[in-house]
Amino acid sequence: MFDWAGGLELYRRMDLFSAIDTEPVRRRMDELAEEIDRLNYEYYMNDRSLVSDFEFDAMLRELQDLERQYPELASPLSPTKRVGGEVNKSFRQVQHRFPMLSLGNTYSIEEIEDFEARTRKLLDGKEFSYTCELKYDGVAIGLTYRHGRLVQAVTRGNGAVGDDITLNAKTIPTIPLKLRGEYPDDFEARGEVVYPFEAFDAMNKQREEEGLEPFANPRNAASGSLKLQDSAECAKRKLMFCMYFMMAPDGVTLPDTHFGRLEWARQMGFKVQPYIKECKDIKDIKDFIEYWDKERWNLPFGIDGIVIKVNQTPLWEALGLTAKSPRWAIAYKFKAERVSTPLESISYQVGRTGVITPVANLRPVWLGGTTVKRATLVNADFIAKMDIHIGDHLFIEKGGEIIPKVVGVDFEQRREGSMPVQYIVRCPECGAELVRAEGEAGHYCPNADGCHPQIIGRLEHFVGRKAMDIESLGPERLELLYKAGLVRNIADIYDLKREQLIGLGEESTIQDKSADNLLAAIEASKQVPFERVLFALGIRYVGEVGAKKLARYFKNIDALMGADVAELAQVEDVGEVTAKAVSDWFANPLHREIITRLRMAGLQMSGVWKMESEKLEGMTFVVSGVFEHFSREEIKADIENHGGKVSGSISGKTTYLLAGEKMGPEKLKKAEKLGVKILSEAEYLSLTAEG
Ligand code: IVH
Repeated sequence: MFDWAGGLELYRRMDLFSAIDTEPVRRRMDELAEEIDRLNYEYYMNDRSLVSDFEFDAMLRELQDLERQYPELASPLSPTKRVGGEVNKSFRQVQHRFPMLSLGNTYSIEEIEDFEARTRKLLDGKEFSYTCELKYDGVAIGLTYRHGRLVQAVTRGNGAVGDDITLNAKTIPTIPLKLRGEYPDDFEARGEVVYPFEAFDAMNKQREEEGLEPFANPRNAASGSLKLQDSAECAKRKLMFCMYFMMAPDGVTLPDTHFGRLEWARQMGFKVQPYIKECKDIKDIKDFIEYWDKERWNLPFGIDGIVIKVNQTPLWEALGLTAKSPRWAIAYKFKAERVSTPLESISYQVGRTGVITPVANLRPVWLGGTTVKRATLVNADFIAKMDIHIGDHLFIEKGGEIIPKVVGVDFEQRREGSMPVQYIVRCPECGAELVRAEGEAGHYCPNADGCHPQIIGRLEHFVGRKAMDIESLGPERLELLYKAGLVRNIADIYDLKREQLIGLGEESTIQDKSADNLLAAIEASKQVPFERVLFALGIRYVGEVGAKKLARYFKNIDALMGADVAELAQVEDVGEVTAKAVSDWFANPLHREIITRLRMAGLQMSGVWKMESEKLEGMTFVVSGVFEHFSREEIKADIENHGGKVSGSISGKTTYLLAGEKMGPEKLKKAEKLGVKILSEAEYLSLTAEG
């Protein structure tokens, strides 16, 4: 095969380029794009692999090379866009051409019967049918196509305005970039982006290996993925688009049944799931619901209900809309799946701060797509409130969340004469008598310096990424050093000598190079700023934000150590309980000695908190809802990091209401009433962005 890229580069270098015509390159690029599109289609839509991965990659690379050399010839809809690589600076807010309505929904079959009866009555003897289809549990997006080409992808947002996520959407293989066959000239395709279970599990496994927090559930993960700044990252997420709706402006004709529209969409190259059924009456609808309530866990992606629509689209207008949803459709939502399984035993885990967490060991049971073997029992109060007896069967539930929850006791299965669970009185690890502080629900083991999981837990916390960040000291190494008697507390880490490390361990002994790496990482940690050192100490209730606030207020460790409870409680966000925990911690002579040793080792024990910028100086924010890139605490800390203030309630002094997803309607109303500007997360990010 003639190497176009190489050949033309040669021409270019020989300065013959201007003399030649780029037509052959363009033709080759079109040919490659077309072939790659065809192979992608066969692979993702029809599960057919027509060439080896090697051949496919070679074609893709050739096209990428040509696009790099001839950017003027590169198409914005080239299949190379599937790989991503462009950076979303911020997600532009766009107005939806057609508002993105939601559906009325219910958990009750009776209400579905009512819906059906009402619809029939309103349609007054007209012939019609329903379609039943799956309610995909993901993120709704709208795709605009003009002349068969994808021009824009927008999230639902608040229904009127959403975020432009076109670059990321292009990386999803089941979103066609160019349509096939016949298509309307201008229309919008709507559907749900879902995270298939297999890809989700793989991604979470990888995240855990990398020490990142795993995603809570596929829906949140899909939503976070669409908002990734780097589209190449989004490409790696292996998301899927399920199309379920089509709409067009006046003058563009679409088929007059919903079923027919989806059928057409499939021919255009959309992934339309085959699980759609035309139903003539309520019996058909109920059968469909019943079938999928059981079968749903055998699907490769999550669904949370069934959507029922009137099939004949001309009747939609006759039925009309209510305030926020159409009268011609309804969603039936599945109840969280619940099973009952025997409690085999209870384990008591000891955390790094000594807190005891009781965990139910269950007879393994299949629930919501995974086998559940364990579930937390929270604390002694929870066990008492649920009235759990030894040998009981427990009800376990899993809703949209991936983590199973104990929701009650299956009393019908309780054996006569069974005894209530007796909470332990001694630490399962070290035997110390447990304590329960007044007003606290949890028990804890007070033997902080002699209880193995607490010692190791504290060491792990100390070296963690958000603390001292000594990456080469993983849990296994720490255990090894502990067993060898080299590290018993956090200060011992800084006394480690090269000769003590070499040869340590049984199977994979520490060699010269890794000993040097470890010592270098320990040395580097001495530059970690004071506020993180404070967080690393692992004082109860002192999280990242609390540590920052304390460091900023006291400025150095001596002032902090000298403060009494009343003074500590002066610090913003530090309550009585935390103040007492801090004061107790520093009152302990063992801890004072550790501080002295850490100071001698050269760790940062002072330093004024340095702000990242002063971009938000003079602005007051109220934060509400859930965010993609931050936890609530993180976004508050970030505001302060840029010189802004955070307040709990909206008033005339509020500059912005920073609105995440699922924000309560009251806050929104109040902000609108007071004329407070509402800021999206994307807008916030661009406000604080550099440059
Ligand atoms: S139809 C105007 N069909 O469920 C009707 N929605 O409130 C447009 N959803 O946010 C929606 N699967 O994102 C429709 N097969 C399906 C669906 C579906 C999931 C979502 C949709 C919407 C919510 C309903």
